[in-house]
Amino acid sequence: SKGNHRHYMLKEIYEQPVVVAQTLRSYLRRMEDQVSLPVPDFDLGAIRRVTIVACGTSYYAGMVAKYWFEQFARVPVDIDVASEFRYRAPVMEDGGLMIVISQSGETADTLAALRHARSEGQKIAAVVNVPTSTMAREADLLLPTHAGPEIGVASTKAFTCQLAVLAAFAANLARAKGRLDGKAEKELVRHLAEAPAALNAALAYDESIEAMAHLVAGARDVLYLGRGPDYPLALEGALKLKEISYIHAEGYAAGEMKHGPIALIDDKVPVIVLAPSGPLFEKTVSNMQEVQARGGKVVLISDYDGVQAAGEGCIATITMPKVHPLIAPMVYAVPVQLLAYHVAVAKGTDVDQPRNLAKSVTVE
Ligand code: F6R
Repeated sequence: SKGNHRHYMLKEIYEQPVVVAQTLRSYLRRMEDQVSLPVPDFDLGAIRRVTIVACGTSYYAGMVAKYWFEQFARVPVDIDVASEFRYRAPVMEDGGLMIVISQSGETADTLAALRHARSEGQKIAAVVNVPTSTMAREADLLLPTHAGPEIGVASTKAFTCQLAVLAAFAANLARAKGRLDGKAEKELVRHLAEAPAALNAALAYDESIEAMAHLVAGARDVLYLGRGPDYPLALEGALKLKEISYIHAEGYAAGEMKHGPIALIDDKVPVIVLAPSGPLFEKTVSNMQEVQARGGKVVLISDYDGVQAAGEGCIATITMPKVHPLIAPMVYAVPVQLLAYHVAVAKGTDVDQPRNLAKSVTVE
């Protein structure tokens, strides 16, 4: 049931601290500060290349994970949307691992990609939320998310749980490849374990996000910008807004603005900038200032320090808790979800059942 919430989507957004904690519990051993994953019947240490395939929001979780697998495990990662992967001629050599990511575990394109990769001799890991699904059954290594049933068509809690599993998996692969010593693993686990509390703190900004939703609800087009692992969050923010509020939105890598989309900027296009403090903050802010210099109306989502440093001249700011860059993609999912939600409610659309969309896409 929806409990006290007006929509399943809102309920599921609010469940995130609990379901992410639940998911992390089965992938982290907190006493020893170690990641602990099911042991596959193939040698993880021998994996030389990772191919991630998924659709929609699950694909964006995969995009975030690519940064982690490359950074921690130093393994090259290809990523593609399933419907594209299948119809090119992907080169899949021995020692390759395919990771499929799917809430439902039934998405037809993703399943077909899994089967193709298997026929090409790849090992298969599946990050799925439905443990009885076809993908779960067909994988060599099942990595379940413990988000519980997701009813709202727009995926929310499944996404943050996918990120939790993928971060633990990246650390696990890094360890198997001798790239993660005990101290580094301990730190990683500690940062990950902070995610539930940080998600909770992010939810506390619900009312202030609701109060600024009108700034976006009247727009025809909205841009979302981010860099590094927060770039996929910009894509996710744009997808959420499109699918439930029917406002045209695009996510861009902040540094790509000047290569075209900055031509769109005027005072009618709200630009949502995702810029947590961290190594990419300054760069993102300078892209944001390029937008402002052209009259663009910026909503800055950052932490207290980031808002202090760069909030001036923005039409609104949303202050997130200050978190380690590893968990920022999880934490920043909350404001983009809530913004899409409140804009949709302001526009009176059917949040849980958006037009033309189905929860599980079992046609190719
Ligand atoms: C977006 C959304 C879709 C799904 C996509 C993949 O909010 O719900 O984009 O993420 O259809 O579905 P799964 O994860 O079930 O494979």
